[in-house]
Amino acid sequence: MANSDTAVIILAAGKGTRLKSARAKVLHRAGGRTLIEHVVRACAPLRPRKTVVVVGHQADEVRAVVEPLGPRGSIAAVVQEPQRGTGHAVIVAQKAVGRVKYGLVLPGDAPLIRPETIAALARGHKASGAAATILSAVLDNPAGYGRIVRKSDGTVRAIVEDKAANEEERAITEINSSIYCFTLDKLWPCLSRLRSDNAHRELYLTDTIAMLTEQGERVMAYLAPDAQESLGCNSRAELAEVDRIFRARKRAELMDAGVTIYLPETVLVDPDVTIGPDTVIEPHVHLLGRTQIGANCIISTGSIISDCLLEDGVLVKPHTVMYRSKLRRDVHIGPFAHLRFDVELKRGAHLGNFVEAKKAVLDEGAKAMHLTYLGDATVGRESNVGAGTITCNYDGVGKYRTTIGRRVFVGSDTALVAPVKVGDGAYIAAGSIITDNVPPNALAIARGRQSNKPGWASKRRAELAAAKPTKKSKPRRKSPKSRKKRSRR
Ligand code: UD1
Ligand code: CA
Repeated sequence: MANSDTAVIILAAGKGTRLKSARAKVLHRAGGRTLIEHVVRACAPLRPRKTVVVVGHQADEVRAVVEPLGPRGSIAAVVQEPQRGTGHAVIVAQKAVGRVKYGLVLPGDAPLIRPETIAALARGHKASGAAATILSAVLDNPAGYGRIVRKSDGTVRAIVEDKAANEEERAITEINSSIYCFTLDKLWPCLSRLRSDNAHRELYLTDTIAMLTEQGERVMAYLAPDAQESLGCNSRAELAEVDRIFRARKRAELMDAGVTIYLPETVLVDPDVTIGPDTVIEPHVHLLGRTQIGANCIISTGSIISDCLLEDGVLVKPHTVMYRSKLRRDVHIGPFAHLRFDVELKRGAHLGNFVEAKKAVLDEGAKAMHLTYLGDATVGRESNVGAGTITCNYDGVGKYRTTIGRRVFVGSDTALVAPVKVGDGAYIAAGSIITDNVPPNALAIARGRQSNKPGWASKRRAELAAAKPTKKSKPRRKSPKSRKKRSRR
């Protein structure tokens, strides 16, 4: 659906005073993206001639978010400084918009809007011959929004802002979503006639509606099928509500595609995450960033997975945390494992409880099941890393690698002081501190040798018994005071 006769104008210059934030409103996040990114993305399928984003507060940051979202030059940010209202924002955009027939105007802070709804608004407007079409919604609680005042023939007479509304107007539940389609040669002359004689001393875009109808133009309102789409993010409470709706949408998509999610309202999934069919997501799981999960996986409760690739059949046990890592088919991990970043667990590798890994590769079938740190390490195929093994990869200045070959047995409580290599098939005795390379198939022992002293313990016990006071000596009386204390407990 190309709309080469249409420009999109997104108003994103406001500060968002009611959020009480140092950050511009449109840079706040809901559903895993900034508000402005949601709005720009929702307009993209329309393929407009041009998208102009009006920026002001933190203009450079907002520009840096929006301009890369489209092909070069298709999305332009223009600066509104100072911000003198929504009408003024559209005036500032006029030059960049250029000579196109229609203008779709959207606020940068209503991110739930869907592409289909914007398309229906534009289509309806173009077919009607009206000067403007407003996307409206009926809300249970319309407080704070501009109200749609209709004429008896059903067309729109005016938009009345909440603060300017009389009692009768305030009772209207049909509100202005701030999403409009204008026929631009009708809009531009009205903008130059706007006045700031209102509660905020601003130029209101909403005032152009009454101007148009007064000069005999027709203005329509298109009632949004889903009122949620017009929700703004003016307060932290609204931001949380919008986030909740985005999260629910994403989970519903995944469930429709064959993913099982238990207690879904406790599960958080970012928008770009993909999950294969028959994978089970348990309660309180967070799947973040660009994580990709295959089919037939189980992600157990409390796990947090960010920017990871999990192939089919991976089992993630409870409370596992992982960032920027790859888990090949049939890997088992957790409970309570931590992949800090750049870890690759190849097919069938197992990582158990309280194992931390960073910049590490475990080859096929390799295992590290308990209480281990593997940093800057390679573990060869089918090797077993015993409980409590630590790679000492850092000497206070530099980081060094540990390379463990195939079918190596690393005994419990081994410290591998990097840089160090352990050859294929070698054994390392428990409790060793390995500072030198171990040749293939060798046994390395690096610890003090044990010596047993026969009878030492019984002799010691006898000595202790002899030193004790005899039974005849009077037992020490507890003072009345201390007895009292005790009885009180
Ligand atoms: C606006 C509408 C109101 C509507 C509501 C829906 C006006 C006067 N009122 O009110 O009828 O019900 O949206 O959400 O338009 N902005 C600029 N430059 C400015 C001022 C605002 O770019 O000088 C941007 C803001 O960043 C924001 C959008 O315009 O993204 C809307 O502004 P906001 O102050 O949130 O308007 P509301 O009071 O919500
Ligand atoms: Ca708003």
